[in-house]
Amino acid sequence: METGLLHLHNALRWVILVLLIWNLIQALAKKESIRSSSLWLMITAHTMLLIGIYQAVAGRYGWTSLNLPTGSTVMSDSFYRFFLVEHPVLMVSSIVFITMARAKAKELNFRSFTWLLVIALVLILAGIPWPGRELVGRPLFPGA
Ligand code: HEM
Repeated sequence: METGLLHLHNALRWVILVLLIWNLIQALAKKESIRSSSLWLMITAHTMLLIGIYQAVAGRYGWTSLNLPTGSTVMSDSFYRFFLVEHPVLMVSSIVFITMARAKAKELNFRSFTWLLVIALVLILAGIPWPGRELVGRPLFPGA
């Protein structure tokens, strides 16, 4: 199950990115359809949140199965600091912005909607363990 969840977490990143960009395009075109597309984005983001919390708590590198070298702490170990602090903080913040954007979509407030999603996009792009990243880089696609 754990591998399946990790693969799902990996793949859903693309769904979130595509939905985010799709929402931004619709917002720039001032389309009322952001009311429904923002809901799909929020559902996907909250699903990621649940899988992410599971991984960070009970996953192979989660808080309950820490395997730190003697003398180091989560904050002094770059690998654990990334997956247990930096990545979750950036992603939870982006999901908060996506949720706030959803409220703006209901009001058809295109300007605020756009800005909230731009911030969310920047946070997500900064927090993804892209393949080239030292120590924490991960594949672009599940199981690749
Ligand atoms: C927009 C939301 C998120 C995106 C796009 C995202 C993206 C990713 C990606 C691409 C990976 C690498 C997957 C792989 O190795 O195949 C990953 C791993 C991980 N993510 Fe996220 N993530 C998100 C939210 C979260 C949240 C909210 C948490 C925790 C609260 C979290 C915790 C983790 C952990 C612990 C790993 C490492 C799992 C392992 O290697 O066993 N993620 N994430």
